[in-house]
Amino acid sequence: MLTKINTLSGYLYEYQKSVANPEDFWDSVAQQFYWRKTWDKVVEWNFENLDVKWFIGGKLNITENIFERNLFTLGEKTAIIFEPNDPNEPVRKLTYKELYEEVCRFANVLLANGVRKGDRVAIYMPMTPEAAIAMLACARIGAIHSVVFAGFSASSLADRINDAQAKMVITSDGNFRGAKTIEVKAVVDEALQSCTSVEKVIVLKRTNTPVQMQAGRDIWWHEAVQGGSVQNKAEEMDSEDMLFILYTSGSTGKPKGVVHTTGGYMVYTAYTFRNVFQYEPQDIFWCTADVGWVTGHSYIVYGPLLNGATVVMFEGVPTYPDVDRFWAVVEKHKVTHLYTAPTAIRALMAYGTEPIQKHDLSSLKVLGTVGEPINEEAWHWYYNHVGKGNCPVVDTWWQTETGGIMISPIAGVTPTKPGYATLPMPGIQPVIVDNEGRELKGNNVEGNLCIKFPWPSMIRTTYGDHERAVNTYFKTFKGLYFTGDGVKRDADGYYRILGRVDDVINVSGHRLGTAEVENAINSHPLVIESAVVGYPHEIKGQGIYAYVILDSAAKEHDPEKLKQSLLTTVTKVIGPIAKPDVIQFVSCLPKTRSGKIMRRILRKVAEKDISNLGDTTTLLDPTVVDEIIEGAGLRQ
Ligand code: WT7
Repeated sequence: MLTKINTLSGYLYEYQKSVANPEDFWDSVAQQFYWRKTWDKVVEWNFENLDVKWFIGGKLNITENIFERNLFTLGEKTAIIFEPNDPNEPVRKLTYKELYEEVCRFANVLLANGVRKGDRVAIYMPMTPEAAIAMLACARIGAIHSVVFAGFSASSLADRINDAQAKMVITSDGNFRGAKTIEVKAVVDEALQSCTSVEKVIVLKRTNTPVQMQAGRDIWWHEAVQGGSVQNKAEEMDSEDMLFILYTSGSTGKPKGVVHTTGGYMVYTAYTFRNVFQYEPQDIFWCTADVGWVTGHSYIVYGPLLNGATVVMFEGVPTYPDVDRFWAVVEKHKVTHLYTAPTAIRALMAYGTEPIQKHDLSSLKVLGTVGEPINEEAWHWYYNHVGKGNCPVVDTWWQTETGGIMISPIAGVTPTKPGYATLPMPGIQPVIVDNEGRELKGNNVEGNLCIKFPWPSMIRTTYGDHERAVNTYFKTFKGLYFTGDGVKRDADGYYRILGRVDDVINVSGHRLGTAEVENAINSHPLVIESAVVGYPHEIKGQGIYAYVILDSAAKEHDPEKLKQSLLTTVTKVIGPIAKPDVIQFVSCLPKTRSGKIMRRILRKVAEKDISNLGDTTTLLDPTVVDEIIEGAGLRQ
């Protein structure tokens, strides 16, 4: 196990050390891993053109650090407890040895099917152990995985496959999700009609959904691994070789492929897992995220397994077969650490405490949240009813781009405060700047959250477009990594994340670009233009409000049917997570003379707060505001 912080003074000491001498600090953390060759230099960096390298010259394989480094002691320990969607289906457990063998066997399948170091592999799978096996097998042979959340549409999947020029797709026949069975392979088939880079598709049989297997391209997982060798020598990777690409939304229409590399990502995810959660060898860690998101990458797969942890992998949804499913799973597997999203807490809160009382949750030691700001009510409910007032709540702030947890309490060490992510992890140097980029020093300040020094698991580039990464993260504020979040530092120096300050909305902990949703809406033949904003939503955190200008031909159509048809379009273009909660048809959008949409006004109307709309004199036609207010059913 990695060394860890145990006390508040220990944290303060480590933090000071990490800032005063980052190289020594990270050197000593990295030394606790297995490197085929150690690094010549800890870090070299330049934020002007985003050139960041960690553990330079180091050679390693991340799976060797999960398996070979630990097998001697961990072989028979459970690595993954698989809890299927249907609670009556038997639980599957894989020991470290079994997982190791599966990973090696599947790595050999990848090799046999022409995948080599540096090739990209798209993974579009259910939350089954095979998703982790596929990721680790890629890492084993040095292929770069790009996991795509299986809720994304065929066209989103195709965009991601094409952007990465993936050579292979690993998928399943279908996915079980609550009472539904989703025909995943059919989505892949549709996507591949517009992808020329893919040579092979490996299909896991999960639901027995009938599928079309294309001869020469499609291979069943179970047939491919049959009788295969469980010996595989890990590929030697450079510390800065790409480990994975993960697509995420930004303020422009096209999701970008965030690139993480091997050495730094390994060191940072393992370090933060051990410290933030204070994981101990007998603990059972359950992160409810999907492996399609960064949370699943860092805190279901890499961080925990690098620490020899036992993780629960849950295939289903919180409300199936009943609303007590989460608590039933905690009781069944004696979960000690539960890491989930505020949106899930709020959704379950709505059913009261009775579903909780039906279960023995006494195994719980630590509760975690991630993905969006947590409101105080949800925080207290989580702390009091789920944790019975005995379990620290770690509100962990981070991003796809940061690779690992950046600002968070250390469980049981940092005194918590509801709604606050509290203090930065060792090695993380946050700064708050105003809109002109001036640093706001001291406490009781509020502004844009930036980071001024590199950390090992930070984004290295956006795949295929380095300029884009530089422009998105390093141009807004000179010399700083800009997170896109607003933040407040209170009188105690504690950080409270206020939410995105760019055109990104956070719906149930999922990041969506307003432009991305607008593009999807605009692809509808009867739509002329649209503008999308976020607004506070009781369960989702933020909901999606779309203002839509229709073509005159739309007059012939029933407005309710049109709304349905718009939702279908968005589902087809992006996926169900991007469906607007409210659609308002308008004849005009509030634009400035230079043609920019004044989103501030649209946000106010969506929030149903028209008391202070601010200055509207720069609008080309201020009367459109009245029409929009009127149309929203609000009176001035
Ligand atoms: C955005 C990143 C990090 C894994 C899941 C989301 C928001 C994340 C918190 C938190 C308030 C949070 C931020 C951030 N966010 N964690 N604890 N408190 N906001 O990853 O999809 O890359 O989204 O999620 O706005 O920028 P992501």
